[in-house]
Amino acid sequence: MAFPIDRPRRLRSSETMRRMVRETNLNANDFIYPLFVCEGENIKKPIGSMPDVYQMSVDVVVKECQEVEALGIPAVILFGIPAFKDAEGSEAYNEDGIVQKAIRAIKENTEKLLVVTDVCMCEYTDHGHCGIIKGEDVDNDETLKHLAMEAVTHAKAGGADIVAPSDMMDGRVDVIREALDDHGFEDIPIMSYSVKYSSAFYGPFREAAESTPQFGDRKSYQMDPGNRREGLKEAEQDILEGGADFIMVKPALPYLDLISDLKENFDRPVAAYHVSGEYSMIIAADRLGWLDGHKAMMESLTSIKRAGADIIITYYAKEAAKALKED
Ligand code: PBG
Repeated sequence: MAFPIDRPRRLRSSETMRRMVRETNLNANDFIYPLFVCEGENIKKPIGSMPDVYQMSVDVVVKECQEVEALGIPAVILFGIPAFKDAEGSEAYNEDGIVQKAIRAIKENTEKLLVVTDVCMCEYTDHGHCGIIKGEDVDNDETLKHLAMEAVTHAKAGGADIVAPSDMMDGRVDVIREALDDHGFEDIPIMSYSVKYSSAFYGPFREAAESTPQFGDRKSYQMDPGNRREGLKEAEQDILEGGADFIMVKPALPYLDLISDLKENFDRPVAAYHVSGEYSMIIAADRLGWLDGHKAMMESLTSIKRAGADIIITYYAKEAAKALKED
């Protein structure tokens, strides 16, 4: 049927009409809120390139988590800024490390909030790479052992609800699954950063997490932005090798095709990480008066969900949840 019989504008005639036919609706349940936790007390240190995002000590993070829970957001994801860094990233798997302490405190002081932990070495190594260095590069198989220890301490020392490996080593989901199961954590799901690109959009995060590589870049382990089919292979390996319970695409908006591919091809919840650069560039444009930041944010999150994301990790989780409540 064609014009003039069919007129698509009929279904756009009022906000009520549009609301009724809208295919994609955001919900606070869609979000995971990232938090950066550091040592000390009563610390709330702003991050220059990420307005309204802070490094926070455990006591402040706990208050933040109570607010997040009250907004109906189901989960937070934790990133740690350790007391010290070394070549092996040993604070990553210290049972009294910063993330392990934070998980315990959050679990004790919230009702049902889920705590997801980022499993990676880059925040804990003095060279800033995501694993153990041999020669000029990260040693894959050596790194796997450290990642497994890190994941187990998140589950054991802290009581993490979900672990999320973001290092991009081959075989990590398998090794982490085995280590968790060996320690009696067969019920802890793995949210794998399966399709993670080597991206300029992580720039502000590296300021927040103090994790900029001291030499080279992450191109030998993170994916090349030109590749699409490889994303399917990565996700398939994570599911086949270790039974990843969630698969993730990161960044989100520049890789909507991958979100759609994963949703079409696999039967696991698809998460998308709306990363630091995606957040900061909207705020920057808003501050310059070049667009309406709030509207651009809601449109971005809606697009990520429309492409197929079941879960969106975003620094906008609180602002979006508040706006949805007022709707
Ligand atoms: C750690 C990690 C990174 C991000 C999440 N986990 C940085 C990186 O890989 O360099 C980026 C998140 C963001 O930019 O918001 N490996």
